[in-house]
Amino acid sequence: MKMKLVLGSLAVVVGAGYGAAVMAQAKPDVLVKQRQSAMVLIGKYWGPIAGMPTGKAPYNAERVATNAPLLEMLAKMPWDGFHENTKGENSRALPAVFTETAKFKDGADAMQRSLTNLVKVSKGTDEAATKAAIAEVGKTCSGCHETFRAK
Ligand code: HEC
Repeated sequence: MKMKLVLGSLAVVVGAGYGAAVMAQAKPDVLVKQRQSAMVLIGKYWGPIAGMPTGKAPYNAERVATNAPLLEMLAKMPWDGFHENTKGENSRALPAVFTETAKFKDGADAMQRSLTNLVKVSKGTDEAATKAAIAEVGKTCSGCHETFRAK
């Protein structure tokens, strides 16, 4: 029993060490490139559905049902790229990212929630509800960019 406990904590220590090593390997400029890449792909799958609520783009339920799960997955990816060590890097991230961290995280969480909701709603046949859910996602993009992304 005692041995098991010791082995268990050893695994935790080794695991933590490995995690730190992985973080240390990611150079700041690489992290920036990766987080921007995630955002670029978010833009790719967002673009075709963004205009549907206002009628700028024709409503296409199939397109929404395809893109929403991709967006939901991509929305998990940028955040660990906003590591402290990227502070001085050339990017569009404003300094507030590193000072108003709770607000930034709230913004990321709101985006994730809105996309989870869009995935759910887009499985149905309610066009109005789907458009409303798309509009909600859009608010989370602009809400965060306003405070945390340079123009
Ligand atoms: C919690 C904050 C936050 C949310 C939510 C967010 N973004 Fe961003 N986004 C940023 C920041 C910060 C940058 C600048 C990153 C950089 O330059 O390192 C950015 C950059 C981008 C870029 C430019 C990438 C490049 O390098 O050219 C695109 C496109 C983008 N976001 C699209 C979106 C879309 C679409 C959504 C919503 C579906 C969204 N973002 C939601 C914070 C956010």
